[in-house]
Amino acid sequence: MKITPTNSLVGAYVEDIDLSAPVESDAVDELVSAWHKWGVLFFRNQNLNDEQQVAAASIFGDPVPYDFAPTTEGSEIVHKIDNEDGKPKGGSSNWHTDATWLKEPPRGSMLQAIKLPSSGGDTLFASMSAAFDSLSPSTQNFIEGLTALHHGGSKLGANRIAKKIPEDAVSHPVVRTHPVTGKKCIFVNRLFTQGINELNPRENEALLPMLCDLSLRPELQFRFQWEEGDIAVWDNRSVQHYATPDYSEARVMHRVVLAGDPVE
Ligand code: SIN
Repeated sequence: MKITPTNSLVGAYVEDIDLSAPVESDAVDELVSAWHKWGVLFFRNQNLNDEQQVAAASIFGDPVPYDFAPTTEGSEIVHKIDNEDGKPKGGSSNWHTDATWLKEPPRGSMLQAIKLPSSGGDTLFASMSAAFDSLSPSTQNFIEGLTALHHGGSKLGANRIAKKIPEDAVSHPVVRTHPVTGKKCIFVNRLFTQGINELNPRENEALLPMLCDLSLRPELQFRFQWEEGDIAVWDNRSVQHYATPDYSEARVMHRVVLAGDPVE
């Protein structure tokens, strides 16, 4: 197995590995530590069936059902992000961390490209620990004590089962500490964060967009160009992502989410 960082602060390619077969425990340790270090791992040409994708996802955490999107036929865990009609929909085309409206948002997600348009449909990733590091010490100190409200709202779009999204908003720290690396990560996003609890509306107007839009900075990003059968698995605690809505042909992805951990 060979792990090669991308030319950016975030992401690494893993080669010479077949995720359809059991992975040796040494390799598991290496993969998990590379995942924590780089935030997202890319595996080309894997073409996993549902069972194999769930097994591969379990390298990084506990795959769990995700009640907010339709599953693939016969699976309770693998769900389908289905833009078969070539019309990108849903909230994924906003920079976000998955499901921060849950008390314990998924630890990570594993996505496989099943059907792709002839061009477009890349996914971008941004390092939220590098985003925190890019701030001045004064701003870092100020935001570390703050909390923000998150809600799924109506932004998730037509391919979600919106009625199951919790009614109540949840609060999370604006800066979370990664439970393994100890790195501080910005944990607010354009899609789900409604406001910073401790600030008044004018202060929110100024600060929240500034923090959310750190993900827009190219030096914090990596853009992954998919081929069918590719897998990406990201650490939802330290990385945000964005699905580019620049296509007009079918794009179908299979996703497995990992059980969350407390946001601290
Ligand atoms: C997601 O937001 O989880 C999906 C990203 C994608 O479809 O590229």
